[in-house]
Amino acid sequence: MNRAQAEYLRASFRSIKPCGAALIARVFRSLADHHPGVRAMFPDDTSELNQKLFDTLGQVVRHVHSFQKLQEPLAVLGEQAARAGANIGHYRIIKHELLDAIELISGEEWNDDLAWAWSEMLDAVTGVMMAGAGAKETTPRLAA
Ligand code: HEM
Repeated sequence: MNRAQAEYLRASFRSIKPCGAALIARVFRSLADHHPGVRAMFPDDTSELNQKLFDTLGQVVRHVHSFQKLQEPLAVLGEQAARAGANIGHYRIIKHELLDAIELISGEEWNDDLAWAWSEMLDAVTGVMMAGAGAKETTPRLAA
């Protein structure tokens, strides 16, 4: 991801930030409707988790070019997710639900470039979280 793409991603994050917790709440509702098994891996009450998860995405967006700073905290989250039973398929489902929710909330601002940037970023998060949990399925691509 080049500097212009990273700045574009940051601008996108800033524009959706006021709705961050609601966006994640929507993801959990959609998981309940379409992937109840994945929803069940999270606590019933996600009211605190909604904001925390969104804030984590914000940190990643901020550090998209210094990703190594986030490896440790993301690895800890990855371990926690692994304890809940997370595998690569679950991460992919969450990624797609997040992309759908971000697209919806972005309205007319959404385009292929943003879809690409968010997708790359979420793949990198998955890579670091799964690596932290001892899996070897994906590697982060943004740090290079
Ligand atoms: C299949 C994938 C995942 C599973 C199964 C999973 C599972 C969990 C569980 C069970 C918790 C504990 C919640 C609680 O007891 O309050 C949690 C917390 C959390 N997760 Fe995940 N997670 C997944 C993916 C992600 C992703 C992709 C992110 C962010 C990019 C993320 C960020 C967080 C954060 C920020 C917390 C709160 C940690 C804290 O309270 O300090 N998780 N996750």
